[in-house]
Amino acid sequence: MNALKPRDPRRIETLIGRMTLTEKLGQLTMMAASHTVTGPVIAGHSVGDIRSGRIGNLLNLIGAAAAREMQRIAVEESRLGIPLLIGLDVIHGHRTLFPAPLGEAALFDPEAWALTARESAREAAADGIAMTFAPMLDVSRDPRWGRTVEGPGESAWVAERLAAAKVRGYQGDDLAAADSLAAVAKHFCAYGAVTAGREYASVDVSERALLEVHMPPFAAAVAAGVAAVMPAFTDLAGIPMTAHAGMLRGRLRRQLGFEGVLVSDYNAIAELIQHGVAADLVEAAALALEAGVDIDMVSGAYLQGLPAALERGLVSLERIDEAVRRVLSLKARLGLFDDPYRRGAAAESAAALGERRRLARDVGARSIVLLTNRDDALPLASDIRRVTLIGPLADAPAEMRGPWWSAAEPDAQISVLAGMRAALPRAEVLHACGVDIAGSDDSGIAAALELCDGAQAVVLCLGEAATMSGEAASRAHPGLPGRQRKLAEAVLERAGARAIPVIAVLFSGRPLVVPWLAERAAALLAAWFPGCEAGHALADILTGRTSPSGRTPISWPRAVGQIPLDFGQRRGGRPVDPPGPFSSRYIDESPEPLFPFGHGLTYGRFTLSHLRVVPDSGTESATVQVSVEVENQGRRRAQETVFLFTRRLKSRVAPPLLELRGVGRIALDPGARGTLTLPLAIAQLRSLGPDLEPALEPGAIEILVGASANRAALLTGWLEVRTTPES
Ligand code: BGC
Repeated sequence: MNALKPRDPRRIETLIGRMTLTEKLGQLTMMAASHTVTGPVIAGHSVGDIRSGRIGNLLNLIGAAAAREMQRIAVEESRLGIPLLIGLDVIHGHRTLFPAPLGEAALFDPEAWALTARESAREAAADGIAMTFAPMLDVSRDPRWGRTVEGPGESAWVAERLAAAKVRGYQGDDLAAADSLAAVAKHFCAYGAVTAGREYASVDVSERALLEVHMPPFAAAVAAGVAAVMPAFTDLAGIPMTAHAGMLRGRLRRQLGFEGVLVSDYNAIAELIQHGVAADLVEAAALALEAGVDIDMVSGAYLQGLPAALERGLVSLERIDEAVRRVLSLKARLGLFDDPYRRGAAAESAAALGERRRLARDVGARSIVLLTNRDDALPLASDIRRVTLIGPLADAPAEMRGPWWSAAEPDAQISVLAGMRAALPRAEVLHACGVDIAGSDDSGIAAALELCDGAQAVVLCLGEAATMSGEAASRAHPGLPGRQRKLAEAVLERAGARAIPVIAVLFSGRPLVVPWLAERAAALLAAWFPGCEAGHALADILTGRTSPSGRTPISWPRAVGQIPLDFGQRRGGRPVDPPGPFSSRYIDESPEPLFPFGHGLTYGRFTLSHLRVVPDSGTESATVQVSVEVENQGRRRAQETVFLFTRRLKSRVAPPLLELRGVGRIALDPGARGTLTLPLAIAQLRSLGPDLEPALEPGAIEILVGASANRAALLTGWLEVRTTPES
């Protein structure tokens, strides 16, 4: 075993002093491994490159034995015995999958976000992994963009809370613990604002949008101690993020105080040539290093290009050493020098795995958003005798995983069919696909229609395949793919004629543009991709075992032409309200979303009243309490989620329509009342002035509280912000 234990910075310096240039570049290189029947292999390389020190880090290595073997080669057979950093995209679980991130965002619950990250870290660390390329913090207001599924949705405020919770969950209390992972906040910065939602397209956002929307989640991750950050593939106003010294060294390191490792995105350094800012790998490597990127993920540009870049004087040895120092320090913080085999040393107990699946079921059910529920079509009657499941997602276990599945097996996921059969053992649960997810064959529709007859409810399971969202999966037509609309319309007609309620469940990595379905289905649910317990989680909701509590973290458009859409847009001089010929509207569509941010029904029936702001004035150091009475006038116990927004009527910079400041939840029995109190720190109300500097402006602030960002339904109160104490 390695004799070096360089927790002490002087030891890292000694180690750097002993390293050859190749060994240094090896520490700045991360290569992709994969697994064959004969064992692990590294694309385009051999394990000999680990032995020679040319490769110091790996990704995509799955399985504790493979990780241990690679680690052994690095530690016992390389000259300096420096352990590998092994990373993987553990995005929403490793073997046990939790809901895809956009679905998890619908919980609005930082404790749950932290808990699923903690469990994911345990499971991945037990496989020898030490770094996860998560959390993804890209705010997206454009459902065309496939990666919307990986992120927090449209609100920077939510993204900030999610960032802190995820970093806490993955990294635990001690990064060196055998069950902690180094988190990687990605993709810095503003990747979610790609032009027209097209993957990898150019980003050109204002300085203000950058500071108000896109950077704050990363600031929150840095404040939470995130170990690493990944620059985005995209360019920001012409400067690729991988080469953006102003953003990486300036904003991220100097302004936000980030001292950790910057790991490039996959092949992104070499792609600086495609961007058109580097002539060859030498220039590409020099640009990235100068910008502050420490680890080259798979492009080989550092290994191949930096020696020549040094010779040409494009980079200095100090810059290389600086990056090596950061990588070695992270390895030391991860405890890899103390014991490189600590992760993956012990298999997890069956009890831990069982507990994790229970968590996946609970979080899965809480991620599901009940968008409509006409005449209380849901929950299904407890004595239901016959239910028909129709659609290509009804018996599609592998699709339930969503676009990132780490090491999760396709058949370890519970389909809707399996979940419903388990939940309704005395009922007949029939099933027909009708059509494929995306094909053009509609010959199965007739047989599916036959199964509707005699059912007491039809559950239509529609949506996207797991790979229709995520990276490289932008959609210009984010509706139902293939022939699913034809199937749905036929089912709605057939069932409608027989007065059978049709419950439509959407599996998707984005809000789908389906106003026609929302209009006609008895109930509509957004299930996103619920993870390994999908079928059980959905059955819990449909049967009423669990009352729905998920809230959409992103607005649902009525039409693609409304995109981008979010609750915080500025009013403008001719606002949406009041409507008029010259107000900010469309002549052919409502300007409002189909479902606003925060929307989601429960099986209770909540009313909010008696908004109070106490005290109703204060200075920067004060925290006021905003409280509201909540009553459940429904017939079932349920949990209500309440959002606290503010709006400034007048400010130096035109204020957004709504700014989110808090979210609270309260569970109430039928007929019960309760008070929900949300603290509002006045310091939170600082905003960026015309000079982009944060300042607290005195004046009246409207306080708005309600069950979603639907402005028409918010209770309102006032708060007077003072800059000087009352005399
Ligand atoms: C993605 C990253 C991911 C990386 C490693 C890239 O294509 O953009 O989000 O972490 O691959 O798999």
